[in-house]
Amino acid sequence: MVTISVNDLVVRYQSQGTEVPAVDHVSFTCKDGESIGIAGESGCGKSTLGLAIRKTLQENASVSGEILLDGTSTLSMSDVEFTKNIRWRKVSMVFQGAMNSLDPVFTIKKQFEEILKIHNFNGDHKQAIEQAISSVGLEQSVLDKYPHEISGGMKQRVIIAMALILKPAMVIADEPTTALDVLVQAQIMILLKRLKKDGLSIMLISHDLGIISEIAEKVGIMYAGQIVEFGSTEEIYKNPKHPYTIALLGSIPKLNETKNIIPLKGNPPSLVNPPTGCRFYDRCSQAMEKCKIEPPKISTKSGFVMCWLHE
Ligand SMILES: Nc1ncnc2c1ncn2[C@@H]1O[C@H](COP(=O)(O)OP(=O)(O)OP(=O)(O)O)[C@@H](O)[C@H]1O
Ligand SMILES: [Mg+2]
Repeated sequence: MVTISVNDLVVRYQSQGTEVPAVDHVSFTCKDGESIGIAGESGCGKSTLGLAIRKTLQENASVSGEILLDGTSTLSMSDVEFTKNIRWRKVSMVFQGAMNSLDPVFTIKKQFEEILKIHNFNGDHKQAIEQAISSVGLEQSVLDKYPHEISGGMKQRVIIAMALILKPAMVIADEPTTALDVLVQAQIMILLKRLKKDGLSIMLISHDLGIISEIAEKVGIMYAGQIVEFGSTEEIYKNPKHPYTIALLGSIPKLNETKNIIPLKGNPPSLVNPPTGCRFYDRCSQAMEKCKIEPPKISTKSGFVMCWLHE
């Protein structure tokens, strides 16, 4: 288990002469033993936040602020030091879409061996691979298969097993159920819940607040590069404060309710030239004149919310 503190994190991508601040002054803390969810629409910066914590950003990204993992500052750490002490062993990542990037020409076993080789694993390779495979509920026979010979759900389990092989304290799972059918999605969620029960901290990144609520004690709602609401999942579910959170929750269909879902109209603003006031202003049903002009301050009664309605 890990305590994560993110303080005033900014990640900017340089792209074709422009700068995209994909994560813009984000701060939150998630204590040892808690799992956290990050929710928000496509392009709001969820993966960028996860990649910054795992120190796996692309070369065109620049980072400022502070990330502390169990009190150790990681941004100033060299890549060699981070790989040796943290990556895979403390914080591992299930990358978005990774199940489609398994190498088609190698067996699953070969791909596990490659990971252990890269990380100079001194222990018994065979035993570590077999343990990782059974920890995700797969048969050992999967190891002799090629990626095209196994189903999507099995591939996602293989990817999760790869993230677990060096027994990390925490896994960042970026959209681990997207692109899977609902039954397989439910099986992957059962697996993540079991791993959590066995002591693994999980940072679950998803556009789906429903999935996050199944696993995370804390949730951060991201909008256009910022966390606009953060707090206990239960509290945010029962009593969402930010109009964006309310809209996100209102767009989840519920089987046992006859109430129509309320789709959120419009699109998030450009990250290159974000509006001067609240970034949600154009889509907010409760916007006031002030919201257009002045960026909202963060109100921190319990958790936090970035909205003039909760000044
Ligand atoms: N390597 C990159 N270079 C330039 N811009 C990038 C790069 N990676 C991401 N971006 C931009 O940064 C913003 C945030 O992207 P990110 O992938 O973090 O969003 P996301 O919330 O994970 O989206 P999704 O739900 O679609 O996965 C987007 O505008 C995206 O186009
Ligand atoms: Mg993403």
